[in-house]
Amino acid sequence: MPTREELIDYYSRKESEYLGKYLLNDRAHAHVGIYDPERQPELFRSGWVDSDLGVDRLKMLMHLGQERSVSELFQLASEWLTEPEPKTLDCGAGLGGTSILLAERYGLRVDALTIVPSQGRHIQREADRLNLAGLVTARVGDVFSPDDWRPSKPYGLIMSFDAFSQMGRKETVFDILARTQRAGGVLAFSDHYVASRTSEIAAYYNKYWVSEISSLQETVSALTAAGYRIRYLRDRTDRQIPYWGLSVAYSEITTSDRSTARRLETKSFHEAMKAAHHGGDMQYYQVVASKV
Ligand SMILES: C[S@@+](CC[C@H](N)C(=O)[O-])C[C@H]1O[C@@H](n2cnc3c(N)ncnc32)[C@H](O)[C@@H]1O
Repeated sequence: MPTREELIDYYSRKESEYLGKYLLNDRAHAHVGIYDPERQPELFRSGWVDSDLGVDRLKMLMHLGQERSVSELFQLASEWLTEPEPKTLDCGAGLGGTSILLAERYGLRVDALTIVPSQGRHIQREADRLNLAGLVTARVGDVFSPDDWRPSKPYGLIMSFDAFSQMGRKETVFDILARTQRAGGVLAFSDHYVASRTSEIAAYYNKYWVSEISSLQETVSALTAAGYRIRYLRDRTDRQIPYWGLSVAYSEITTSDRSTARRLETKSFHEAMKAAHHGGDMQYYQVVASKV
């Protein structure tokens, strides 16, 4: 299990890299994108993306896929919502891209939870600047200490992108989240899974990303044990593979022989992720569940 200090250290080292790579249209999404082979066949053809596209175009393509990932999951979740504008938790909010998008596009009131204080400050600053302070509230806290962040009113919707695999202990996380929702509340998330927790790729992922990744099977059991019923379970592995190609092409342009070891490590990690998703050692799923 990553400690609070390890997570804060990881994200403080990454913050400027993330902002440079992901900040576009006032939103920085630190999660993978979802792409459509009919609309963007060139991203699926060879598996590699041409770095000649240039930094701006690569950033735009990553961003569009990331926004599609949020809107796709929100549409799926909406089918199960019992109220039109549910109070929402963005669980593991990063730099707030999802929270801001949900507030701006769908008018939702969103609590953006992160364990990293500098991310909380960034989110609140952006929400204020965009006149969304009435809708987006940054909450800095550890998901495992709900007394520090849980509001009195239950959440109608909880969304999470590429964050649960970093939190570990899914049985506990889902149990805590279930206690913040009434019956009928919806929990929707997108995340990575490993076929085996003891595989080499799981160890590499956890070491690089300060995480504790699990299998889909463990996740489904933990959801059921916490009192959720699964409504949607959709394999999006193939649809997100282009994200890694875009990210590797971005690294090729922005990394040189003089780049820091950390930047070179990022490039290698993204190449390995792409290969692992291709090879079936890693999967990416969208899950929608509702509390019974
Ligand atoms: C990769 S980021 C994803 C960010 C965001 N969902 C996005 O898509 O842009 C993972 C996030 O999970 C948060 N996180 C990890 N462990 C946490 C914990 N125990 N409690 C609260 N937040 C946590 C991190 O602070 C970070 O904001």
